[in-house]
Amino acid sequence: MTQGVLQKIEQLRAEINEHNYRYYVLDDPQVTDLYYDQLMRELQALEEQHPELITDDSPTQRVGAAAASQFETVQHEVPMLSLDNAFTKDELLAFDKRLKDLLEVQGDLEYNAEPKLDGLAVSLLYREGKLIRGATRGDGKSGENITANVRTIPAIPLRLNSEKVPQLIEVRGEVYMTHVGFQKLNEMQRKKEAKEFANPRNAAAGSLRQLDPKITASRPLTFCSYAIAQLEGMELPSTQFEQMQLVKTLGLPISPYIEKLIGIEPCFDYLQRIGERREKLPFDIDGVVFKLNDAEQQRRAGFVSRAPRWAIAWKFPAQEVMTRLLDVEFQVGRTGTLTPVARLEPVEVGGVVVSNATLHNMDEIERKDIRIGDTVIVRRAGDVIPEVVSAVLKFRKPDFKKPVMPSHCPVCHSEVVRIDGQAAYRCTGGLVCAAQRKEAIKHFASRKAMDIDGLGDKIIEQLIERELVHSVADLYSLTLEQIASLERMAEKSAQNLLEAMEKSKQTTLPRFIYALGIREVGEATALALANYFRDFRALQSADEESLMQVEDVGPVVAENIVHFFAQKENDKVIDALLAAGIHWPEIEAADANAQPLAGKTYVVTGTLENYTRTEAKELLTSMGAKVSSSVSGKTTAVIAGDKPGSKVEKAQKLGVEILDEQAFEQLVNNHAQ
Ligand code: IVH
Repeated sequence: MTQGVLQKIEQLRAEINEHNYRYYVLDDPQVTDLYYDQLMRELQALEEQHPELITDDSPTQRVGAAAASQFETVQHEVPMLSLDNAFTKDELLAFDKRLKDLLEVQGDLEYNAEPKLDGLAVSLLYREGKLIRGATRGDGKSGENITANVRTIPAIPLRLNSEKVPQLIEVRGEVYMTHVGFQKLNEMQRKKEAKEFANPRNAAAGSLRQLDPKITASRPLTFCSYAIAQLEGMELPSTQFEQMQLVKTLGLPISPYIEKLIGIEPCFDYLQRIGERREKLPFDIDGVVFKLNDAEQQRRAGFVSRAPRWAIAWKFPAQEVMTRLLDVEFQVGRTGTLTPVARLEPVEVGGVVVSNATLHNMDEIERKDIRIGDTVIVRRAGDVIPEVVSAVLKFRKPDFKKPVMPSHCPVCHSEVVRIDGQAAYRCTGGLVCAAQRKEAIKHFASRKAMDIDGLGDKIIEQLIERELVHSVADLYSLTLEQIASLERMAEKSAQNLLEAMEKSKQTTLPRFIYALGIREVGEATALALANYFRDFRALQSADEESLMQVEDVGPVVAENIVHFFAQKENDKVIDALLAAGIHWPEIEAADANAQPLAGKTYVVTGTLENYTRTEAKELLTSMGAKVSSSVSGKTTAVIAGDKPGSKVEKAQKLGVEILDEQAFEQLVNNHAQ
């Protein structure tokens, strides 16, 4: 009897380990999470009935150990080194030359390149295939024993995968947190009213060094291997590249971005490529590590003090830096919301000089406890607006004051009110407020709205200041002379702008609705409204109940829409716009033929050659499809142009179909009447 149970238990463990391996190492899961959970539950139930059959490396035993009072010290048999850095092309060239001289090599050296993950170095020791120890780097000679904690990280196998395992292997790698994991963790912290983490690295560090492994288990940590430090009972492959393949075969994750490069020139190309992908990667990297590929050459090159001569870390410009918060000012947005903006002592972040950063809202300032005069950490990642992450309390002086929301708008001096139940404050000036008018016009002219080419911020500012334009409708009565009279505006560009405005009159209903700038009516909602009502006048007179029939329109948006059309000034502006000749093609009735993609949901990402993303979305929705901004299990397909980024990776993970531009055109043509 027990024999049968033991067999079943072992079969379940093997199957669970196999699914883990496919998921974390091969990035190619075969079964759903639900199925996996069922296997786990089945195993748990059997082990509960037969506790004598529980083994330490059973997948149910990840969180077992009780909280410790302190970490034990671990001596590293092989020291855990750090890396020399290179910041310039010359430094990288010098590294290559040094090695060539040292090794007396004339031709090209072979390098292994891989991203430098921004997490924490750990050592994992496996004896006879079983994970027996996990340790931090510490000072390189000795670290802390964090076995109970690393055991909770799902990407780290408790037992090696392969049939043939070495007597002993020590794998080194990085424990880190993905962006998604980091956001989830901070959300959890917010709910618990616990302190949020400033960045994924801090979150990973804070989670790994917990005395109670149950806490570590609740944190979304993951792992990637980058070196073998010890190997016994098996021959060590002769190159770094093959060593990593062995690690992968044994069941530990390695980077999918490892490349073998011949000579230093291709290393620059690699840097360029990884640099371009950096923002889209699902985790933080702070550089690239280049390692001599040949193990014998590595041995000959040896070490200097605490770093190997055979490897170097190329560091990207820091995405987080410290600077001083000189002042906090308040910017008025299109809908009157006042956003606190940090004025900073100019500083280079991620390769760009930054002197302003967002502080989001007053609650954020309060939560982060930020005062004027503080030394603050500023973060800038990719296209994201730079933000103040936190204050460095060490440099705080007692006279530093908290920023205060002004009682009156800094632009039009109307009263400022707090919006019920929200963190936002709003200027009550409406279109009296020049700042709001300016933002409303910017929005109206923007690419996804009326797409008035050449109507940039500087021109809009002048038009408002000179009182040539009060509302968006005034744009269409501007004369050539008026436009040409603006600063830095030649006759030719004035003519072009006038033509662009004329051209913008021929638009689509969704664009027009979006351009009006109704609070919380974005591109997708505008599309849904246009397809539902088809007639603008019907939308204008719709009540909240009928508006809520439209997909994604809830009570708040419905109320915003009704409120917008109830304003007399808005009515006047709309009438003037239509009188100026703004028009759009009629939207066909939604019969079955016109809606061939009804019930389908698409995500559009990357740059398409023949369509803007907005055009592609319009085409899809005109055929009845829903267009969403994020990929989920419900997505029918992702339409991916050039440089598509993380959405495609997510689609691949979820098994969602990916269409290139050609396939997209085919889809559209097949269904076009
Ligand atoms: S190799 C002897 N490869 O960077 C060489 N390190 O500054 C050992 N790191 O402590 C390091 N990604 O925590 C290597 N792909 C990678 C890495 C990497 C991140 C970290 C590691 C190490 C530090 C050195």
